[in-house]
Formats: sequence, C-alpha cells, structure tokens
Amino acid sequence: MTNVNYRSMKITPNRPRVISVVGARPQFVKVAPIHHECAKRGISHEIIHSGQHYDEKLSAQFFHDLDIPAPVVNLNIGSGTHAGQTGEIMAGLDKALDELRPDVVLVYGDTNTTLAAALVVSKRSEYLVHIEAGLRSFNRSMPEEVNRIVADHLAHLLLAPTKTSMTLLANEGLSTRARLVGDVMVDALRQTEERVKARPPSMPDGWVLNQPYVFATLHRAENTDDPNRLRFLIDRLNGIHPDVRLAAHPRLRARLHNFGIVPDGGLTLWEPLSYPQTVAAVRSAIAVVTDSGGLQKEAALLGTACITARHETEWVETVTTGWNVINPNLDTTIDQWVSKDRSPLRNEVFGDGHAAQRSVDVILDEYQRFHAAV
Ligand code: UD1
Repeated sequence: MTNVNYRSMKITPNRPRVISVVGARPQFVKVAPIHHECAKRGISHEIIHSGQHYDEKLSAQFFHDLDIPAPVVNLNIGSGTHAGQTGEIMAGLDKALDELRPDVVLVYGDTNTTLAAALVVSKRSEYLVHIEAGLRSFNRSMPEEVNRIVADHLAHLLLAPTKTSMTLLANEGLSTRARLVGDVMVDALRQTEERVKARPPSMPDGWVLNQPYVFATLHRAENTDDPNRLRFLIDRLNGIHPDVRLAAHPRLRARLHNFGIVPDGGLTLWEPLSYPQTVAAVRSAIAVVTDSGGLQKEAALLGTACITARHETEWVETVTTGWNVINPNLDTTIDQWVSKDRSPLRNEVFGDGHAAQRSVDVILDEYQRFHAAV
C-alpha cells in the first residue's frame, strides 16, 4: 500500500475530504472496500478508530490483512458500559473532528461507535452518511437495534445494502435519504475469498481444514451474559457434532471463566481468527453456528449452511434463501440441516461485489447537492 498524503490534496465540492469512524471488528471489514475505492479515485479518505476493539487479533490484524492504513486518530476508549463508551467516543471525536475538519463523515453498521459518531456529527456541519442502513431486528433489547435506528434517523444519506432494508427505511419515512447500493461486506468477502483460494492462509496450529467440522462463534450479550443461557448453549454445542470449533471473542472467554463453564464433548475453544482465516474456516466447514450478523451472511455467500443462535435476524434474506435457520436453542441436528439442497446466492440478494463503487458515486453526488444547498 502506498502512503498518500491526504492533507496535501486539493479539496473541492466534488472531491470532499472524507473520514470514516470505526471501532469494532466488522467495521474494519466494511471500511476496507470504501477506502480502496476512494484511494483509486484520489479522494482523501482517512480513518478514525474509537478504540472500542483494541486487542491485536480484533483490530490491528484486520488493518493489516485488509491493507488499510493505520487510523489518523485512535481515541483508545477501550471497554466499558454502553453509556461510558458512547460518552467517551463523543467527547474525543468532537475534538478530533475540530482538528481534522473533514467534509463528509461515514459511520458503519450498529455498534456503540456508530451511535456516538452519528450523535456527534449530527450537531456539527459535516455531511453524515450511514453505511449499512435500514437493518432491523425489531428487538429493542439489543443495543445494536437502538444504535442503528438512531444512526438512520440522524444521517443525511442512508446507504442500504438490500431491498428489504430500503423497504424498512421507507416504513420509517426515510426513503428520500435512502439509496440502494448493495452490501460492502460482499466486496470485502469476494476479494478475500479470491486471495484465500489462490493462497490459503496458515491456520492456527491443529486446525485441519479438510475434515468435517462445525465452525462456531458466540459473542452477543443475550447469549453470553446470563450464566444459565450460556451453560445451555455450551452444552448444546458440546453435543451437536463431534468436532465443533468455536473461535472465542474475549467477552465469551471472560464469561466462561467467571461462570466456571468448561467446554467438553465435541467443542473446542480457539483464539479469534483473522479475516482470511475466517473465510477459509467458513468455506471448509460443514456448517456454521453463530449469533453474529456478518457471519450468517458470509456463510450464505460462501455456500455453507448456518444455524443462528438467536430469536431473530436482521439479514432475513439468509433465511428466505434457505441458507440460514433461526434456532435459538440449537435443537436442529447438523446432519438434518446440512443435507438440504440449496442454490448459490444470486447477486441481487446482497450485491455484486461493487457496492463500494456505487457508495462512493452516490456520496459524491449527494454531497455536491448538499454543499450547493447550504
Ligand atoms: C461489539 C458490538 C457488536 C458487534 C461486535 C463485533 C456494540 C454494542 N456491540 O460487541 O454489535 O457485533 O462488537 O465483534 O457496540 N474485549 C476485549 N478486547 C477487545 C474488545 C473487547 O477483551 O479488543 C472484551 C471486553 O471484556 C469487553 C467485551 O469484550 O467488555 C465486549 O466488548 P464491546 O466492544 O463492549 O462489545 P462486543 O461484544 O465486542
């Protein structure tokens, strides 16, 4: 990756200075195609990291693997309560934006970083864009649901990944600000899939790809923070298949330790995987069991059946196309679920891998309109 001095670029309404605010693992994946598209067109694009995710395996490793430059600012907020994280990001980001003076700020998905950045920018002069707008689980007890609703209602421009998300935005009266661009995660996934096919990444010691296994992740508060619920899920995972490999988020490890839960049976715990390792692990798995939104979609796109350990999903297309089943108590047998016939996902569902290109086109267009009107 060449080092570009973005500060020396001439800024005009059709070449605004763009900043992305990210903080958690899936956002590093989403920002990568946007960054590369801006770089290709000579548009100034820099990254502010809130520091919500700070472990090397959850943060720096992703910047390295996705070939995105180090953040210009890291607010280093670390872990904390929802209010604590949100408040600290808000105060730090406001100052950082005073110094960096971008024209356009991009926020991604539904984390506390998204919420904080949307609140800050909406009271400033920058043009606010929400990437991955219009997702809804209709479960307000999820912090992510609140975060994305607020971001959608505050942003000037809503870039929606799917037709469903466009409909949901219209239902909330937001259609004039919404544009369908496809899912930027498809861009990142397809690029990494090609690299993984050409040159498989080295996997953690002992992770054999060519034998039948189930790939699992669990990190949502609703599954990890109640000891009875977590014990129940771990018991189910122990028995669901002879080889279940769970890449454990630090939150899960901490809860297992605190509650004295020790996996046995078929279940083994692994460190979080890098993005290329995740793509390789999902491609080779016979099934995925997860509560992650991104992974449900990645499984479907890579042709691996998924079981979702939740009561609902925002990515309803993964279910309607037959690739995913919502099964909060994991009482579907893997064999039953894997043996169904499924057709590969068509490009119309989540996009054709060119969502970043369309996103940048729309951002430039709409920002010029906004700029001319103020
Ligand atoms: C966050 C997002 C979630 C997203 C997930 C992706 C919110 C509300 N949640 O959840 O939507 O799906 O990121 O992974 O924003 N921790 C570490 N090291 C780290 C980061 C976290 O050890 O680098 C541990 C800490 O104990 C922390 C806990 O994980 O308290 C939870 O981290 P947090 O950022 O609050 O939420 P996630 O569960 O990661």
